[in-house]
Parts: sequence; C-alpha cells; structure tokens
Amino acid sequence: MIRLTVPDLGEEELTAVDEVLKSGFLVQGERVQTFEAKVADYIGAKYAVAVTNCTAALHLALLALGIGPGDFVLVTAYSWVSTANAIIHCGARPIFVDIEPDTFNMSVTDLKLKIKEFFHAAASDNRKLKAILPVHTFGQMADMPEILRIAHDFSLKVVEDAACALGADINGKKAGAWGDIGCFSFHPRKAITTGEGGIITTSSPVVYEQLICLRNHGQVTHTGKTNFTLPGYNFRMTEIQAAIGNVQMSKLENIIALRRKYASRYDSLLAENNVHIPVQKVGRHIFQSYVVLVEKRLQYLRNTIIAEMRGKGIEVTIGTIFIPDTNYYADTLHYCPRDYPIAVDVAARALTLPLHTFLSMDDQIIVVECLNNTIQSLIHSNL
Ligand SMILES: Cc1ncc(COP(=O)(O)O)c(C=O)c1O
Repeated sequence: MIRLTVPDLGEEELTAVDEVLKSGFLVQGERVQTFEAKVADYIGAKYAVAVTNCTAALHLALLALGIGPGDFVLVTAYSWVSTANAIIHCGARPIFVDIEPDTFNMSVTDLKLKIKEFFHAAASDNRKLKAILPVHTFGQMADMPEILRIAHDFSLKVVEDAACALGADINGKKAGAWGDIGCFSFHPRKAITTGEGGIITTSSPVVYEQLICLRNHGQVTHTGKTNFTLPGYNFRMTEIQAAIGNVQMSKLENIIALRRKYASRYDSLLAENNVHIPVQKVGRHIFQSYVVLVEKRLQYLRNTIIAEMRGKGIEVTIGTIFIPDTNYYADTLHYCPRDYPIAVDVAARALTLPLHTFLSMDDQIIVVECLNNTIQSLIHSNL
C-alpha cells in the first residue's frame, strides 16, 4: 500500500513522550509553553496559544474577536467543514465566497461581490459583517495582501485558517502572521503532527489574554486572585502533545523541503497526463496535500479513479469539501451550491495523490503509472 500520508515520527518523539510519562506532569506544564514560544518565534507573531485541535482554535479565535449571534463571517466555500462550523459554533452565520480555479483559495473578486451584496441587502436590518476567514488551501497562502486591503476598507477582522500551512509564506511573511489571528492544525495529515492538536497565533495582547481565558474554563488570575470571568472551555493541549510538537518543530523545515521536492517530482512525472498539476502562484507552497485536477472531459471518472487506484494499493482521495453542498448547509441552512460555480467544478475534479517524507522516487513513478493506466483503461471501457 502506498499511503496518502505517513507522519514523520521517530525515536526522538518516543523519547520525548517517555520523559513526560515518567515526569508525572501531563498537563499545563513547561513543554506546552516551550511549544508556544517555538511556534510564535517561527511564525513571527508575539503570542501563540496551544489548543486541542484547529477546530477549537478557529472557534476560540472568532470568540476572542467578539463574533457572536447576529454576526456574519465571509469564508471560503471549499475547505474542511470545521472552517465554517466554527462560525456556527459562535452563533454567527457564514457567507460563502467562491474560490480561484487555479489555487483553490478564496477569490478576491467574489469576496468583493459578496461584500457588495451583503451591504445592499443589509442596509435596513441589524445584521453585522464582522470578519473574513480565508483558508490557505492545501498549503498555499490565499492572497493576503489583497484580503487585508479589503478588510481594512470595510473594518473587518481577519482570521487565517492556516490549518494546512505552517511554514507557507508570501515575501517571507509567514501564514498566521498576516491576519488578526492565525489558526494551525497538528492532525497527522499535516506537515508536522502532535496526534490531534492546534495552535493560535496573534500579536495583540488583548486577543491573547482573551484566548488564554477562553481556553481554560474562563479562568483569570489577577494580582494573585483567581476567578472565572466567562463560561470558557477546556481546549488545553497536553504535555504529551507538546513534547511531540517540540521535536516536530525542529524537523519542520526539512519536512517542508522534502515535500516541495517530491511535489516538483510529481510535476515532472505528470507533465504528459490527463490531469492539471497544482499551480504555485504566490509565495512558498508547503504542499500539505498534492492535489491535481482531472481534465474537465474526464470529470465523470474521478470517483472511479479513486476507487480503482485504492483497489490497486494506492491511497488517493478527493481534495477537500465543498461546504455549501453538504446536508447541513444545503438542506438545513439553505445555502445554494449553484452560487459557487468554481468550487462546484474543483470539488468534482480534485484528486489528492500520496505525499509524505518516506515516499521514494519509485513510489512516485508507481503512483503516476497507476493513475495513467487507470485513466486510459477507464476511457476505453467507457467508449
Ligand atoms: C483547512 C482546515 N481547517 C481546519 C481543520 C481542522 O483541523 P483539526 O482537525 O485540527 O481540528 C482542517 C483539518 O483538516 C483543515 O484542513
């Protein structure tokens, strides 16, 4: 089996976990603080707050910015569902924005259109547009300079969903350092992992204090006195996760270099095939996933390609989720999938190939040959 992803873990992580277990201090210790300091320093943010996963990170980020019932948040239509669910968890509502056909990131053109439509419709009611939540899809950053310009013009907050983009940058400025807040995931499908895990970055001391309080049951300690100022959550990362994270951080740049190298190998191997290779448009793409688009005329074959390749021992999958088309958003909240034509198209054609640091040149040749043969035989059997 050539797996879609294999976390890059070894003896050092085992030793680090062993030390935590033997210490008897499993939560709220110095390893979490060290991990936060390492990530903040790496991103170029003043603060980092480690949490249980990126879904919790997004949830706390929106709460810390004061987003709640009656508020609206502009968010990409093509992402993992929790990007939009976090908005719902705060009692707010998403306004989905279509994506770019090449990078799969939030379309700035559609963003401007959705803002115009919102203000046109909301002129006489109490609805409030509060924030933009762009996603750095598959490890390539959204057009942050332009998104920040628009946010500034309309006094909107910006939360970056950088779940897949630790180490991605534009002109050397890293994902998570652009918006008011950045949110990262350490799920095993990401470049580095802590099992489950997430972290929030910000440079605002006010937002930081709010995040610390929300993460830990609403607890605040002031001049030696502890109290609970709001009904917070327990979204704390454990020392075991942070111990793994500290080792993983020291491997991050090497892991990114390998992922980029293997992505460019795929680019060459796939040059003559029935798929469009990923477009690298801005900054450093860290290739959390290597996602190709099946040619439009072959779109009807995409799901069969996935099933057949898996049957042949190669773990491929779709890209990510076209959120307005899921049951909850389409049937319960009545979003209309037709409003996002590019996301409809990309969601039907995207195909993720295996990519991890243990992938050999031979593995990649096997993946590409299998993809080729599968497509050719399906074309012939459908003639
Ligand atoms: C873009 C995006 N946002 C948020 C998440 C949620 O991350 P987690 O699984 O750490 O909650 C994911 C997870 O895959 C993701 O891809």
